[in-house]
Amino acid sequence: MTSVARRLPTVLRPPQAQNIGGFDVEKLRRDFPILKQKIRGRRLVYLDNAATSQKPQAVIDAISHYYERDNSNVHRGVHYLSERATEEFENARQTVQRFINAASASEIIFTRGTTEGINLVAQTYGRTHVGPGDEILVTALEHHSNIVPWQLLRDEKGAKLRVAPVNDSGELLLEEFEKLLSPRTNIVAVTHISNAIGTVIPLRQIIEMAHRRNVPVLVDGAQAVPHLTVDVQALDCDFYTFSSHKLYGPTGMGVLYGKSALLDAMPPYQGGGDMISSVTFEKTTYNKLPYKFEAGTPHVAGAIGLGAAIDYVNALGIENLAAHEHDLLAYATEKVSALPGIRVIGTAKEKAAVLSFVLDGVHPHDVGTILDQEGIAIRTGHHCAQPVMQRFEVPATARASFALYNTREEVDVLVEGLQRVQEVFA
Ligand code: ALA
Repeated sequence: MTSVARRLPTVLRPPQAQNIGGFDVEKLRRDFPILKQKIRGRRLVYLDNAATSQKPQAVIDAISHYYERDNSNVHRGVHYLSERATEEFENARQTVQRFINAASASEIIFTRGTTEGINLVAQTYGRTHVGPGDEILVTALEHHSNIVPWQLLRDEKGAKLRVAPVNDSGELLLEEFEKLLSPRTNIVAVTHISNAIGTVIPLRQIIEMAHRRNVPVLVDGAQAVPHLTVDVQALDCDFYTFSSHKLYGPTGMGVLYGKSALLDAMPPYQGGGDMISSVTFEKTTYNKLPYKFEAGTPHVAGAIGLGAAIDYVNALGIENLAAHEHDLLAYATEKVSALPGIRVIGTAKEKAAVLSFVLDGVHPHDVGTILDQEGIAIRTGHHCAQPVMQRFEVPATARASFALYNTREEVDVLVEGLQRVQEVFA
């Protein structure tokens, strides 16, 4: 490891083709204070955005501002601060509603993140609709958070978990998916974009296929909302869930969208304050949507931070951001693939923001550790998607994942870092 002595250039070269549609990445980088720091004496090259993205000053300020000025509990107080906190909290819900084009703000449930959104649906819709012998259909691309909640339900109910396969590029086999939709299928739960290998799945076709058989579809959108436009009404998905922290917002915050007819009919998830309409020791009646699913004091600052993150993304235009990331991914794929002894895992035609790869003779953890010495942050391991690793017969991959503030120069630094790794292991 100490032989990694030849240092990478500290000052990155000036930007090349990085001003797509007026999207000035060097200017935008200044909005993210964390990117200014040096890591191990090197300029930080942060390529672990699929794990979590960095936060712009506007989001940090919105959260600080809330705690400095408005902090109070929501929906409870008659006093001024509580009213102001409630207004900001509900404004954030409306911002989310517009962002994903939900029909009503009452269809937006605040959660701790994508994982909680999926567990909520499994434990409420799932528990009331899935019985012995019924089937839950997922894909081979799922994150553990879209597998394990369904396994818990399967084991409780004596149901079955079916898995739609992918081809060697990591593309979903639609015909196989359709064949797996049986009269016993009660719910389809699919990722929108694979966190491990970046495949964008053909969501509209999947939803149409499922709906032709009256099967509802839950979408894990954790990796999608930061990278493409999501319109839940156009998709016609029944549930869509995502996290704030991958979308430039705070951690511990997320969203579950559900069609109101489904949410109305579902039992509550957790019991507690705010989710009730009246309580006696004999009987409790529940609050209207979305509060029926928001027991306890919510993450008010988190919602406000998420709202600020969405405002930030909207101001840039998600299509501009997507074009920039598409350019980066294409550039990185070309450069990394050209290195000898590298195999890219996941070569689907439709991909977003994720480049997963393995190097001959080097464990991904060693790749990550050596790159870290150069100030380059990537994720290595199974990415909480062990079945994806099994499908591609690798124990782990190294994964570079992109965000709006990454540059082609950073990709060059990554490539130089990978060359260094190969020198060390030569
Ligand atoms: N699910 C996140 C990732 O892919 C944490 O890294």
